[in-house]
Amino acid sequence: MEEHTRTFTDVKNAILSAHENSGPRDKMRFYDKWAEQYEEDVALLDYRAPSLATECIASHVQGDRDSAKVLDVACGTGLVSMKLKEKGFQHFSGLDGSEVMLDLSRKTGLYQELWKCLLGLEPLPVQAEAYEVVVIVGALSVGQVPVPVIEEMWRATKPGGHICMTTRANPDNLKYKAELELALDSMVSEGRMIRVAVSEVEEWEKAVQEHETGYIPGAVYLYRKAMALHK
Ligand SMILES: C[S@@+](CC[C@H](N)C(=O)[O-])C[C@H]1O[C@@H](n2cnc3c(N)ncnc32)[C@H](O)[C@@H]1O
Repeated sequence: MEEHTRTFTDVKNAILSAHENSGPRDKMRFYDKWAEQYEEDVALLDYRAPSLATECIASHVQGDRDSAKVLDVACGTGLVSMKLKEKGFQHFSGLDGSEVMLDLSRKTGLYQELWKCLLGLEPLPVQAEAYEVVVIVGALSVGQVPVPVIEEMWRATKPGGHICMTTRANPDNLKYKAELELALDSMVSEGRMIRVAVSEVEEWEKAVQEHETGYIPGAVYLYRKAMALHK
């Protein structure tokens, strides 16, 4: 039987060490180093974002799941696609900036295609309007994927397709969260997206920062890409 030796203190130390990293390439080195422990650690953290995003997609997205193409942005080890597969989705493409995370997601056998891409510095390496579902979980936050990347995710989505996003709502991410929501609001007012569901979740994952206790909050967003611009 596999031995589980990590403690919550190990997880805290691992995550807090990421805050010492200054730029996106440093962040990818952090994820490369963390990748092998990632799934064990996020289980200790009670990281619920992949399940919450999956539930949100499964309860609102209509249409044939057998044929729907899903783009899993910042796929990590593949937790989100694994959950979506349990809900009947079958076709996954993924991308991430960490080579080691990509190696692990490749081993799941879930993905038809996987790309290495440093979001914010490199464009999404995917065709425009190719995916019924584009999802990004655990990566839209300060120091990770910059907000303007949602424009690229919008381009990758088929008209009528869905974009699902998550972000943290603890104090150090509130400015980022406000920026994300402002960008989403303007896409809605431009007639490019329709807001389908937004849920604020109190118990998102266990707190790791010194001044925080218990659980931190977070949010799941689901938007639909408009069929055509009505201007
Ligand atoms: C917390 S993990 C989430 C992984 C997976 N989506 C999940 O929910 O388990 C964040 C992932 O985002 C990736 N990531 C963070 N910033 C990135 C960037 N700028 N470009 C590409 N990938 C990035 C990391 O390599 C890591 O795999």
